[in-house]
Amino acid sequence: MTEDEITSIQGTEDLLPDQWGHWRRLYATARRLFELYGYGEMRTPIIEEARLFVKGTGATTDIVEKEMYVIPPAEDEETGGVALRPEGTPPVVRGYLEAALHKQQTFQKFYYAGPMFRRERPQKGRLRQFHQLGVEAIGSDSPLLDAETIFLAMKIFGQVGLEESELSLNTLGCRECRPRYRAEVKRMLREWADRLCEDCRRRLERNVFRVLDCKKEGCQEVVQEVPPVTEYLDEECAEHHEALKAALRREGVDFTEDHRLVRGLDYYTRTVYEIKHPGIGARDAICGGGRYDDLVELLGGPSLPCVGFAIGVEPTLLAMEAELGPAEDTSPRPDVYVVRFEEEAREACFGLTQKLRDAGIAAETDFEDRSAKSQMRVADRLNARLCFLIGGRELEQNQVLIRDMAGGEQWNVPREEAPQRVIEWLQENPSTQRG
Ligand code: HAM
Repeated sequence: MTEDEITSIQGTEDLLPDQWGHWRRLYATARRLFELYGYGEMRTPIIEEARLFVKGTGATTDIVEKEMYVIPPAEDEETGGVALRPEGTPPVVRGYLEAALHKQQTFQKFYYAGPMFRRERPQKGRLRQFHQLGVEAIGSDSPLLDAETIFLAMKIFGQVGLEESELSLNTLGCRECRPRYRAEVKRMLREWADRLCEDCRRRLERNVFRVLDCKKEGCQEVVQEVPPVTEYLDEECAEHHEALKAALRREGVDFTEDHRLVRGLDYYTRTVYEIKHPGIGARDAICGGGRYDDLVELLGGPSLPCVGFAIGVEPTLLAMEAELGPAEDTSPRPDVYVVRFEEEAREACFGLTQKLRDAGIAAETDFEDRSAKSQMRVADRLNARLCFLIGGRELEQNQVLIRDMAGGEQWNVPREEAPQRVIEWLQENPSTQRG
């Protein structure tokens, strides 16, 4: 690659025409199930005021502090700049409030699909532009709703063929009971501060719960000594958590309780969960979610409890590759390649290709002035099922010579009847796979 060649930005990916197999399966499955479960699609802009995330996701989170792409405001603007959205939850809540949907009906369920942006260190399945498929249910604190979101996510993974995904569950309590736990964790960790990594010593004062899920060995040792949050929950939070677990057990959803699971976003209350996949390396979360009962109010709305999740598309695609193998080739495959045997047939070939497409038949023809032999090679490479061979004789007799590319048989049909004959042939000879 020469020095002045322009390449894609680190941590971003192109998706080429043959690479959509697992992606399409995941999206089609997710959309179908989202709607089956009563979630309506909401699309919000990719750019938002940065302060939506400063306030919503949390000023001291890694996402906002280190990873958010912010376009600074112009000198005459009094905003805090514009952010490329790092996640979908605050935008959905903003959109819900901005359209005053709570005045029509408070309880509403939304889903979204789209790109998110975080300046993370790129690694396997972790990108700077990635995609999420998410849901947000606004207006109920029922633990059955938490359970519903978990069933939905697990169902999506099950239906795309992932059998090895694992659910980890925790609760973080609420604004009443959490401060006691936070104070206790802080007190204990301060005593052992010299055993913590540099990042965690900083987290200790700014966002102490993040110390609990630090992956460094030394920190993990220290954290083992911290009592689990369940010892500090108030009665209502404890009951909520028990009711969710009972609902999961009733439906046969396996889970592991992980009292170190705190998630990297500030809005969570009570339930938090992650779905992990063992086949994708260290950053193994393919979905993260939980309850956020204070966010609507924090963003200027009424007090409305919510719960939701987001599936990471790229990590999930990796998991699909690990479990299911490579995806099928999605590059377009013509049913018919129209080969020009002689120059005089050029216009006729072009016209016939359009006619085939009008009849719903995938058709392609040559635009590169190739010889007849070379056009046949292209037809072969594109994996065309049939070729039309058209030269002076076919023009004169108003016919088309059709060739079955797999079997090698050839037969003539009248030109006007060609599309219909192809339709019939394709019905009689359904293709199950690409050759
Ligand atoms: P999150 O845990 O930050 O939660 O992201 C959810 C999922 O998105 C992760 O489990 C991971 O699979 C994927 N993900 C995150 N960052 C990247 C990245 N840089 N590259 C590829 N995939 C990534 C949220 O975003 C919350 N908004 C989820 C939620 C919705 N909570 C309640 N409602």
